[in-house]
Amino acid sequence: MHIKSLLILTTAASLFAVASARSQVVQPTPGVPGDYVLPDGSAKKLVQDNCTVCHNLRNIVNSNKSAQDWDNTVNMMMAAGAPITREQGEQIKAYLIASFPEKPRPKPAAISGPVQVKFHEWTLPTPGERPHDPLAMPDGSLWWSGQFANRLGRLDPKTGEMKEYPIPIKGGPHGLINDKDGNIWYAGNWGGHIGELDVKTGEYKFFPMPDPKARDPHTPLFDKDGILWFSVQNGGFMGRLDPKTGDIELFKPNGPDGQQPYALRFLSDGRQPWFSYWGSNKIATIDPDKLELKEYILPDPRTRIRRMGVTSDDMIWYGNWATGKLGRLDPKTGEVTEWEGPSGPQSQPYGMTVIDDKIWYVESNTRPNNLVRFDPKTEKFQTWQIPNGGGIVRHMMPTRDGNIAMAMSGLNMVGIVEILPGSSN
Ligand code: HEC
Repeated sequence: MHIKSLLILTTAASLFAVASARSQVVQPTPGVPGDYVLPDGSAKKLVQDNCTVCHNLRNIVNSNKSAQDWDNTVNMMMAAGAPITREQGEQIKAYLIASFPEKPRPKPAAISGPVQVKFHEWTLPTPGERPHDPLAMPDGSLWWSGQFANRLGRLDPKTGEMKEYPIPIKGGPHGLINDKDGNIWYAGNWGGHIGELDVKTGEYKFFPMPDPKARDPHTPLFDKDGILWFSVQNGGFMGRLDPKTGDIELFKPNGPDGQQPYALRFLSDGRQPWFSYWGSNKIATIDPDKLELKEYILPDPRTRIRRMGVTSDDMIWYGNWATGKLGRLDPKTGEVTEWEGPSGPQSQPYGMTVIDDKIWYVESNTRPNNLVRFDPKTEKFQTWQIPNGGGIVRHMMPTRDGNIAMAMSGLNMVGIVEILPGSSN
């Protein structure tokens, strides 16, 4: 299926830099109970009193969680600071498991193929960390952002040894990336900052957003000159930080804040950032010199993209979370091609990476999560069920050995998928 998309070139007037004025770290807005009604049961009052401190009950009432998911969710909320004892946590888990049972989900489609893989999985030291993003380093270590436990962690996959680096201020670390010196930079999704961890001293440095509206930095990525670009999802900004000076510039793409800049990639030039919007069916790019914004409207208005990947021919690949399809945008022509995903329209493609020009991604709504490989040459899919379930794999990346690093956010685990030698990758 080939669909020609519209190509829109917006002028520099649609993108403005916001003046820099240092701001305080943003605190979460206290939630209100709202109109969400809880069923009767032993821990109803505990939930009403304690689970509405930071948000309302919508997340709970509209949830779709297994007993294992509820166990991990309550651990996550305790790691984030829910004011309950362990014992109250156990009562709340039992109540939530009984009151909100899991609803039907799509089954992970099994497709065999030419490649063999081996899964390696590790449970993290602190309960309820919600490992959001993985970072595979050139030294072979695997880092993760423990968003709810406000820390970064490092695993040596050879020995299984782990070390954690708690963040001393409110951070909620999300995306991770390393610089040339091997230091780790993170997007402080709850702290409205970019953070840098000096891995030798274990010390953090913080770069607050110059505008408090840029409250939730999402995905950071260095360009080839060492400038850190990042998306700010709900704040609705793109930004860039110069590590030499610490200066941050914010850019507001034209249109409603609801556009929500999200995934971020570079093509082979390594300088011009490409990003998707979580709030609309668009992929966009900013000319880093002229500061012009160019937007590509993807043909299906329902399209919502989680992550993107780039192949060596400079094609942009995306998982269409809202329709279960795998998509490809040719940035030169604006041409868009989409393929039906193995487990169908409800499969919710999420974490994605490209290895040796093959697209790897996870169908995050199947239980267990389905790992998918797509070969653009043969247009064939192959799938594997993730042994411990995956629990929503939100991001993946290649390791130095050409394997796949993943964070399993709903399971408190990280993993490496080894692509076995001899298989025709
Ligand atoms: C200290 C603050 C805090 C408290 C207290 C809290 N939460 Fe949360 N909760 C969060 C944050 C932060 C998020 C993430 C919001 C986001 O990602 O947009 C969240 C998200 C959620 C979600 C949706 C995300 C998911 O993984 O499904 C559920 C469900 C949830 N909370 C349940 C609970 C329950 C149950 C309690 C009571 C035990 C609770 N929360 C108490 C901070 C809190």
